[in-house]
Amino acid sequence: MTAAGTGRPAPPPPVPLRTDRLTLRHVRPEDAEALLWYYRREDVTRHLLDGPWDAERAAEQARHRSGRKHITQSGFATVLVAELTERGNGAEPGRLVGDISLWAVDETLSHGEVSWVADPELGGHGYATEMARAVLGLGFEHYGMHRIQAQVESTNRASARLCERLGMTREAHLRRNWWIKGAWTDTLVYGMLAEEFTTGGGTAGSDC
Ligand SMILES: CC(C)(COP(=O)(O)OP(=O)(O)OC[C@H]1O[C@@H](n2cnc3c(N)ncnc32)[C@H](O)[C@@H]1OP(=O)(O)O)[C@@H](O)C(=O)NCCC(=O)NCCS
Repeated sequence: MTAAGTGRPAPPPPVPLRTDRLTLRHVRPEDAEALLWYYRREDVTRHLLDGPWDAERAAEQARHRSGRKHITQSGFATVLVAELTERGNGAEPGRLVGDISLWAVDETLSHGEVSWVADPELGGHGYATEMARAVLGLGFEHYGMHRIQAQVESTNRASARLCERLGMTREAHLRRNWWIKGAWTDTLVYGMLAEEFTTGGGTAGSDC
């Protein structure tokens, strides 16, 4: 673990992370098709800066994200995909349920931010919550972060509900601060402090 606030990097993260139903692993270039399956949808990318994707964008993103394994500098990220460990809700083991990024916001490496996307075909079963809780655990317990935030476009109710399910606190409503898909949009900032983190039901473990 990093000595919080010193800016010294932690060891590489203990990936894969395992939760009750999911395995979170690093992205591979071969994930392009599975990522495209949900990033091609307008309803999935509506609140995101980027998308919907086409096959070329998916290949480029899968390749780029496959290199984002460890946080060693401000702005560097750990990007993970979450796959089903066993068959569930009609889907086979190995099916991607979503992906999630954790990055350091500042030079101390103890202030992080998360961003998530999940396949709506497997939505409503708590997979995104389980995936996000595991990554909050990675940020607080492995990287020694003291604060992790999520920035959510103000009309993105599903993402705001996810923050609230995780126990994050709504700290700010920023007015017209992001230009998304042709319009200025408001942002809700949710935050959690290390001492507020509890693993709840979907405890994150690791192979290491
Ligand atoms: C934000 C997003 C990841 C949330 O996905 P989700 O399917 O709502 O989240 P979960 O998989 O955790 O499922 C939660 C729902 O399942 C229910 N649920 C069922 N079993 C559950 C369990 N074991 N644990 C938690 N929730 C459970 C919850 O009650 C909740 O229901 P609700 O939607 O009626 O409130 C998804 O909407 C998404 O990818 N949106 C597009 C991308 C995006 O905007 N990303 C955000 C960028 S900031």
